[in-house]
This record gives sequence, structure tokens and C-alpha cells, in this order.
Amino acid sequence: MSTHISVPPQLLLERILTLEIVRVTERAAVSAARLRGHGNEKAADQAAVDAMRRELNKLPIEGTVVIGEGERDEAPMLYIGEKVGINAGPQVDIAVDPLEGTTLCAKNMPGAIATMAMADAGTLLHAPDVYMQKIAIGPGYPKGVVELDASPADNVRRLAKAKGVDPSAITVLVLDRPRHSEIIQGVRSTGAAVRLITDGDVAGVIHCADPDNTGVDMYIGTGGAPEGVLAAAALRCIGGQMQIRLILDTEEKRERARKMGVADPRAIYGIEDMVRGDCLFAATGVTTGSLLSGVKFRKDVIETETVVMRSVTGTVRYIKADHRQLDKFHLD
Ligand code: FBP
Repeated sequence: MSTHISVPPQLLLERILTLEIVRVTERAAVSAARLRGHGNEKAADQAAVDAMRRELNKLPIEGTVVIGEGERDEAPMLYIGEKVGINAGPQVDIAVDPLEGTTLCAKNMPGAIATMAMADAGTLLHAPDVYMQKIAIGPGYPKGVVELDASPADNVRRLAKAKGVDPSAITVLVLDRPRHSEIIQGVRSTGAAVRLITDGDVAGVIHCADPDNTGVDMYIGTGGAPEGVLAAAALRCIGGQMQIRLILDTEEKRERARKMGVADPRAIYGIEDMVRGDCLFAATGVTTGSLLSGVKFRKDVIETETVVMRSVTGTVRYIKADHRQLDKFHLD
């Protein structure tokens, strides 16, 4: 009797791509990390973009960047609509943030990452580079327990009740911005704690998925739309809830969004609206943060740490890699 188990070709390719996208974020992270603490956000971002693009163009895919470094005119590389891959293989949507937390990297502060997601063509939300209101929690709660349009205080109370704890046992992660003063006040009015971050809300949202280890139950606030779609891809893999609304407060932004297929500028999207099928997500640490270690440059070895997730199985892998062929690694 044969013990051979056949895997459908599409699934096999996707399994292979899981490791391939690790290479993409690893190389973007290493390139950005060479410029850690140099005070030059643009140079670090460009280095990450160049490396990510180079690696994406080696993948056996017909990829289209749908979440990228901006729209064609203002972004030299990895712009929305750019084709990547060897132009053979599955047609996929790609979301990238080659350096999430440019300021964190330039100042050598914790939490900068290189990140990307991949999904079947036409399944990722095509969003312009605008702001987005976001709320996210981890897995294991009834659907709709928190809502984007409920007040922060109500959301804390509802989450606390669902978790079976007092609101004072809840911690909410918020980007430290003046625009969030009411959110911060509302959360604190319930007795809950606020954890402030200066940047990096992709990792911020991911923290909600593992409250026992991160101490974070909920993310609330307004941040970048590209970061929102990437975070949704991660939550699609590991579980959790997220609601968002694009901030389209000018006719020009509404028009840009309309061209990308956003019919209702006030619509609230859930994870399934932002990522309408299975996806892969990867992130590599640039500077050490609470999610990932940063790149370490040793004498003959470069060390990286990457988390890679696959929604079809919900597998989450942490990959620590030692890279030895430095010249090849840097230049190929
Ligand atoms: P960049 O890497 O593009 O600088 O983004 C960092 C970040 O903190 C994101 O994580 C977040 O979504 C966004 O900036 C918030 O925008 P702003 O700094 O304008 O408040």
C-alpha cells in the first residue's frame, strides 16, 4: 500500500512560498538594519525597499503590489500596481511595508520590522495610502464584542465582561499621538491601562492576539491604511477581530479610493473584507522589539528573526536564521 500523500499543486506552491517570503522580509530587514541609528529615515526605507523588490522579483509568482510604498507617481519602487515576481506562477496580491517604523529604525529604537503579506489575486483590500481608524482584539471572543463606533470606554467594558475580568485588568495599546487624547482618556476612565507606542501599529495589532504573553488585550486608534491591511492579514492567520474605516476626508482621497474599488467611503471593514481569502504573512525584526529580535551583525554571521504565518492552517513559525555568505547575501 502506498504511503504517498498527495498535496494539491496550489497548496504545495503556497507552502513553498511560505519560506520564500521569509527571504524577502529577511533581506529587507538586513538592509534597513545597516542604517539603524543613522538618523536617516529615507535612506533606511529606500534600502529596505530596494532589497525587498529585488527578492520579490525572484519569486515564482505573477504578483501585483496592492499595498505598497505609495501610488505610482510619488513612489519610485513597490508602488501600488507594480508587477513583481518572475511573471510565472500563481497570480497574487502583495502587501508590503519594507520598513514599518522608519523613525524607530532611524533612531535605533525598539520595534522596527520589515513585513509583507501575499494572497490570491483580487482578495486583498486595495487601499490608498491614507489614514485608517482601527480597533482590534485577539481570538476567543464572540463576534462583535467590540465595535469601531462604540466609545473606547464601552469597548473596554464589553471586552472585560467577555473576558470575565474587571476593566482594570484590561490593557489597550494606543499610538502616542495628540489625536488619540480622547481615546486614552476614555480607556483610563474605566480603570483600564493604556500602553503607548511611538510607532509601529502592525506589531501593535499583532500583540492583541496573544494577551497572556504581551499583556495587550486591544488596539484602538488611527494609523496608516497599509499597516491596517498588513495587520489584518496577520490576524487572519492567527485569529482575532478587527474593524476599520478608511479616513477619506477630502474629495481627492475619496476619488483615489474610488479608483481602487472603494464604493462607500464610510464603510466599516472587518478582517474578511480586507483579506477575502487565505493569505501568508511574514515579518522580520529590524530593531529588537517585544515581537521579534532585531538583526544582529556578528563577525561572520548575520542573525535574523522572522515570524511567518499561513492562514490555511493557522501555523505560526518563528525562524531564527544565521546568514553566512555575507557578500552574496548583500549583493545578489
Ligand atoms: P512609517 O514606518 O511609515 O513611518 O509608519 C510608522 C507608523 O507608526 C505606523 O505604524 C502607523 O500606522 C503610522 O506610522 C501612524 O502614522 P503617523 O506617524 O502619521 O501618526
